[in-house]
Amino acid sequence: MSKKLNIGLFGFGVVGQGLYDIIRTKNLNLEIVKIAIKDATKKRSLPSHLFTTDRDELLNNPEINTIVELINDTEAAFEIVSRALSSGKNVVSASKKMIALHLEELIELQHKYGTSLLYEGSVCGSIPIIRNLEEYYDNELLHSVSGIFNGSSNYILSKGFNEGLSYEMALQQAQDLGFAETDPTSDVGGFDAKYKLVIAAAHAYGVIVKPDDVFNIGIQNLGSHDLQYAREKNLKIKLVPVAKELDNEHVALFVLPKFVNEKEFLYNVEYEYNGVIVQAAFADQQFFFGKGAGGHPTGSAVLSDIAALRYGYQYEYKKAKARGGLNFTNNIELNIYLRYDNESLVEALDFISIHERYYSGDYKFIIGRINLQSLVGNQELIARCGAFVAFADQLAGIDLATIAVTEEAAAL
Ligand code: HSE
Repeated sequence: MSKKLNIGLFGFGVVGQGLYDIIRTKNLNLEIVKIAIKDATKKRSLPSHLFTTDRDELLNNPEINTIVELINDTEAAFEIVSRALSSGKNVVSASKKMIALHLEELIELQHKYGTSLLYEGSVCGSIPIIRNLEEYYDNELLHSVSGIFNGSSNYILSKGFNEGLSYEMALQQAQDLGFAETDPTSDVGGFDAKYKLVIAAAHAYGVIVKPDDVFNIGIQNLGSHDLQYAREKNLKIKLVPVAKELDNEHVALFVLPKFVNEKEFLYNVEYEYNGVIVQAAFADQQFFFGKGAGGHPTGSAVLSDIAALRYGYQYEYKKAKARGGLNFTNNIELNIYLRYDNESLVEALDFISIHERYYSGDYKFIIGRINLQSLVGNQELIARCGAFVAFADQLAGIDLATIAVTEEAAAL
């Protein structure tokens, strides 16, 4: 018989309601005892005695043995989750930014207090990727983990590419559907995908990387010339986070728009769907596909974590413990497409080699090889110039396997 879970739920937004809907249809050995909300005046679909605005009513209630944290305030979420873990309560959270920013502390708290924090719903909504990276691929050598990790930006790209909808209209729809973050810059700028990538990399490679150290460029500067260029070549543009093991010692992480061709799995990942490609040494390529945002899809992942807590499941962070010191590096070379106006940007980026260069009226682009550190160092300049950068392996006729650690980094 599994342990009865008495749940204190923080947040009753899109995911909280989605979770509640799912739980209602099941006869599980669990009960939502209390729901903490921010806005007491908002009309709720459940009896008012279930709600409180006082977080202590949940955190100090000895009957509540499990906290489910689904709020969108990063620092408040961290306080709630760390207090819960420190007081013997297990936690399920979907706050990717909070988890990515505080992963090291959260792992320590779990060890110190013997409590469990599960967060499948924080990465790619309904796709069960974290537990698979942690358990199923425990003994696999993973060459790379990449994909589409953000539903809102993918929704905007699909609406624009397939239906000709403007960026603003598509973003508004993603917000109305409850996919987008409170600050949509997180979605379209590649930050949300980066937080998810950092979490996935901890389970894939055992590296705990600070999000600030990981390069991300989003789709804000995507222009009509870029879309036209992709269409002419039968390519699509997707926002793709990549974690790649470079050799036995180095792992690289970055988030960039990417040209994808019709043979690639990601080509057909549209709207709020996400996809995760795991390239493994023995299993070879595997693809996970599912809804990456929305109340019910994310609620289903949260419920799966809650159910796992009933039999005492904990992440062991096996690869972090086992690893022989994989180091995160930005010192890698990769091929990019750069659409730009300002020649000084090209100079600043210091291309290692140029594969193709094009000028015509107001459209100029370069496809060339570059050190990622060069992009990192010029991130502000790129944004200021309104330039669009994309990972361009398809255009240079090569693939992800050609991302290389530089000799300098390999020698470290
Ligand atoms: N804003 C996120 C997305 C929600 O669009 O993917 C799910 O994490």
